[in-house]
Amino acid sequence: MSENTVDPKQYIINDEPYYELVSDEVERYQAAYNVRMPMMLKGPTGCGKSRFVEYMAYKLGKPLITVACNEDMTASDLVGRFLLDKDGTKWQDGPLTTAARIGAICYLDEVVEARQDTTVVIHPLTDHRRYLPQDKKGELVAAHPDFQLVISYNPGYQSLMKDLKQSTTQRFGALDFDYPAEKIEVAIVTKESGVDQATAEKLVQIAHRARNLKGHGLDEGISTRLLVYAGQLIAKGLDAESACSMTMVTPLTDDPDMRDTLDAAVQTVFG
Ligand SMILES: Nc1ncnc2c1ncn2[C@@H]1O[C@H](COP(=O)(O)OP(=O)(O)OP(=O)(O)O)[C@@H](O)[C@H]1O
Ligand SMILES: [Mg+2]
Repeated sequence: MSENTVDPKQYIINDEPYYELVSDEVERYQAAYNVRMPMMLKGPTGCGKSRFVEYMAYKLGKPLITVACNEDMTASDLVGRFLLDKDGTKWQDGPLTTAARIGAICYLDEVVEARQDTTVVIHPLTDHRRYLPQDKKGELVAAHPDFQLVISYNPGYQSLMKDLKQSTTQRFGALDFDYPAEKIEVAIVTKESGVDQATAEKLVQIAHRARNLKGHGLDEGISTRLLVYAGQLIAKGLDAESACSMTMVTPLTDDPDMRDTLDAAVQTVFG
């Protein structure tokens, strides 16, 4: 992918992603996008952050470039690097540079996972300067007027050491995400998994019980994503107890007592 050959169309979302409105998040995001304010989406794993960004990119008709961050990621992975090929060296833009050039929404998923020296490369893009320095190439890439940076982060499980610096967080507006309210979550599980509403209601009931255990032996509650998984297995004919055990108990904890507690919740609701 050279800097001159990227077709923004390849990053356009053509089919409307299914997104169930939870609150006034669309209105708020739209207002932020209007002024190209960088946005931070905070919330537990599997509660709808990525789906929301996909939906907003679709609604705004803007390309979306998503980057899953991890601790091995370097600034070059975002910005770009020189590659060797048979004709010598060739510069290759990283996803952040591509997004800045084509006016995409760039979604850095789980940005706290990246090292701080990686995170700081986004600073000039997220204030009045709106440019990305390509140090290795000695070039400044001015962001396209449509470019917007969005980061996600799960405030729950990261250690304090891994928290973002204030000089980073204070460059963003933020939206809080959480598991959707009961009725909405039932609608999501029904639609996404294909189970009937009564089954979806049961799955959500189990989740509500388990979410009360967060901080009392569970690091995270059962996510909406896991409820959809459970529903998908049930919709394909697996019995509810096996489906729940595979998706809502075993992935969550290795603690035998906690597994018993969760199994009991499944029994109570489905038994
Ligand atoms: N509001 C919603 N509308 C439609 N589907 C939703 C909604 N919220 C959650 N989902 C369902 O939950 C799944 C997980 O959501 P998503 O991938 O957006 O989570 P996430 O918050 O980005 O999680 P992570 O932090 O792990 O990346 C989606 O694939 C979708 O099936
Ligand atoms: Mg996500």
